[in-house]
Amino acid sequence: MILFEKEGEMNTEKTLRIAIEKACQLPSKTLVIASTRGVSALKALELLPEGLKLVVVTHHAGFSEPDTQEFDEKVRELLLKRGHHVLTATHALSAGERCLRKRFGGIYPLEIIANTLRMFSEGVKVAVEISIMAADAGLVRTSEWVVACGGSGQGLDSAIVVRPANSSNLFDLKVGEILCMPSAY
Ligand SMILES: Cc1cc2nc3c(=O)[nH]c(=O)nc-3n(C[C@H](O)[C@H](O)[C@H](O)COP(=O)(O)O)c2cc1C
Repeated sequence: MILFEKEGEMNTEKTLRIAIEKACQLPSKTLVIASTRGVSALKALELLPEGLKLVVVTHHAGFSEPDTQEFDEKVRELLLKRGHHVLTATHALSAGERCLRKRFGGIYPLEIIANTLRMFSEGVKVAVEISIMAADAGLVRTSEWVVACGGSGQGLDSAIVVRPANSSNLFDLKVGEILCMPSAY
């Protein structure tokens, strides 16, 4: 496992290189990444070898402002044209619970799970979350190991080998390996 000195976007290329190398060794040949603006997705596209399937998961529409998409539409088009997948959907580890917290206070089960995963890193939490979202969209199988990457707000700094699960069975998800993450020391 590689431990980065600090969290953040500067680790994106290294994270992708580590993730791609591992994904190439897995039978699923699948890489799932988070990308909010399209920046990390574009970098992945640049580094991706032939034969690897890429699933890019974005923020849900309206995350920052009602009815708006943060993801660059030109990057979406490019990814789709190259035969990859771009998924924009409800976030698996917050969903409507974020509204309950904001409106009524308190903390609810999905966000407790999310915050527990953040004990590793923001990116590990995101990698787990987007694996569930990709499984719920039918873009990855729950019987196959894939590599998933997340980051800390922008870029990518964490990669895991994961066997996804659907949200209705989310505790069936298994993390096989943490390939890289930022150190908390
Ligand atoms: C579904 C989803 C949930 C995310 N949740 C978080 C989060 O809880 N904490 C965080 O630091 N970043 C979060 N992110 C940001 C990602 O970890 C990553 O840094 C970002 O999507 C990379 O986007 P870029 O292409 O703009 O670099 C999330 C992204 C997505 C798509």
